[in-house]
Amino acid sequence: MPKPAPLVLTHRPRRLRRQPGRRALVAETVVRVEDLIAPLFVVDGKGRPEPIASMPGVSRFNIADLVKECRELHALGVPAVALFPKLDSRLKDATGTEALNKKTLILRAVRAVKAAVPELTVITDVALDPYTSHGHDGVLTAAGDDVANDRTVAILCQMAVLQAGAGVDFVAPSDMMDGRVGAIRKALDAAGHTDTGILAYSAKFNSAYYGPFRDAVGSAKAAGTRLLSKATYQMNPANRREAIREVQLDVAEGADIVMVKPAGAYLDIIREVRNNTRTPVAAYQVSGEYAQLHAAAKLGWLDLARCRDESLLAIKRAGADMILTYFAKDVAASLRGAK
Ligand code: PBG
Repeated sequence: MPKPAPLVLTHRPRRLRRQPGRRALVAETVVRVEDLIAPLFVVDGKGRPEPIASMPGVSRFNIADLVKECRELHALGVPAVALFPKLDSRLKDATGTEALNKKTLILRAVRAVKAAVPELTVITDVALDPYTSHGHDGVLTAAGDDVANDRTVAILCQMAVLQAGAGVDFVAPSDMMDGRVGAIRKALDAAGHTDTGILAYSAKFNSAYYGPFRDAVGSAKAAGTRLLSKATYQMNPANRREAIREVQLDVAEGADIVMVKPAGAYLDIIREVRNNTRTPVAAYQVSGEYAQLHAAAKLGWLDLARCRDESLLAIKRAGADMILTYFAKDVAASLRGAK
């Protein structure tokens, strides 16, 4: 066979991929440790960390262990944590009364973390699902067939003020009630918490990827029953324009940061939101996204570290400024190792 003549090509994009140095120079996206927020679960008592079966490597910590974990994350350079309480089921009722207890677990946890690691940014969820016996994010209507919007918002405002009083940097309404961002902003300001920010779960979809999280906080109770469909408040996964509308409303109501959740299956939404707002955008790589990578890796079907890094790069490339991810500590440690 005669040697083929070289192609006469003006453009050879592969020139930029020739060596690691060239590839690094033209890399368009980087995931930095500063982009990461670690979600953490806390339980009462003095027990050992409780592993969550569907989330390998993630445990519920008692307050002392939570503080230790926060110190380690801070030392690794992770700038923020998002805290979620897992309550004893005896503390739950239909209206989530425990959420307004001034000594409730999450408030004690926040105080302990802030006292130990004041520079660490602490974020707490504002929603009733860890506190309600039915697992919904709010209180139910008289007919019991839906979550009552305005009554729920009134409770969320009180929760937010308590959390701000405990010292959180951001409250994060994850409930998807209408008008809650504006109401919470007003309540925080009225209580003198003008410096407490709002990280709004703005485009939060009614996703099946939250399954492992519901095991972690014990809100899965009514899952599969008529009651635990969150479809009347969380967004339909089919909708993109509506996500922009939700984001615009939250920004107008005073959100400091808007969030898209889940992340991996919603990269188009992250990009659309990024293109439509000047507000910082967060994305939540949720429990099911974490679980699926671990499950495949356990079967030997995927390389965990590489898929983890690629998944976060994709979320960043889509336009997220920051990412909530259960991989935060691993990634921070691996970035440190790479330096
Ligand atoms: C509750 C809440 C959920 C998550 C964060 N806050 C679950 C839900 O809406 O049922 C999910 C996080 C995850 O899956 O990692 N308001």
